[in-house]
Amino acid sequence: MAKETSGFTWYKNSSSLLGRSSGSGHPQAYLRTKFNAIAAAKLDSSGKIQVGATFPEGSLIVKELFENTTTLSQYAILYKKSESPDADAKGWVWGYIGSKGKVVEPASNKGSSCIGCHSQADNIDYMLMNKYFP
Ligand code: HEC
Repeated sequence: MAKETSGFTWYKNSSSLLGRSSGSGHPQAYLRTKFNAIAAAKLDSSGKIQVGATFPEGSLIVKELFENTTTLSQYAILYKKSESPDADAKGWVWGYIGSKGKVVEPASNKGSSCIGCHSQADNIDYMLMNKYFP
C-alpha cells in the first residue's frame, strides 16, 4: 500500500523532494508526502492540509524518506483504521517500513515513539507537514 502512487495526491501537489525540516524525527536528508484519495479529501486546492481537518476512516498518508535524491530508504505510514488492534485512541495506525519491506517500527507499538512529537502545537489530526512546509 505504501509503495502505491496511483490515486495519491502529493503534498502541495508536488512530487519534488523536500529537504528534511528542523523538526523531522528522522536522519534521511529528503522527504515527500502523499495522500490516498480518502485522505486527499482533506487537502485544499493548493495541496495543503485543511486547517482543523480530521481525516476520515481509510485515510493513508505516507512520508517517503530518501537518503539522497535517488535512494528511497523508508516509508513513514499513518493509516486511519479504528478497528485495528494496533490503532491509537484517534484511530491511527503508525509504522515505519523499509523500502524492501522490512518493518522498522511495528504498528503494534501504537505510535508510542511517534505520538509525542506529532502532538506538538499546530498539528492537524497529528499531521505536521503544514507546520514545517507552509
Ligand atoms: C521528533 C519528531 C518526530 C517523530 C518522533 C516522528 N515524526 Fe513524523 N513527522 C515529524 C515532522 C516534523 C514531520 C513533517 C515533515 C518533516 O519535516 O519530516 C513529520 C511527518 C510525518 C508524516 C507525514 C504526514 C504529516 O503531515 O505529518 C508521517 C506519515 C509521519 N511523520 C509518520 C511518523 C511515524 C510513523 C513516526 C514514528 C514511527 C514518526 N512520524 C515520528 C516529526 C516527527
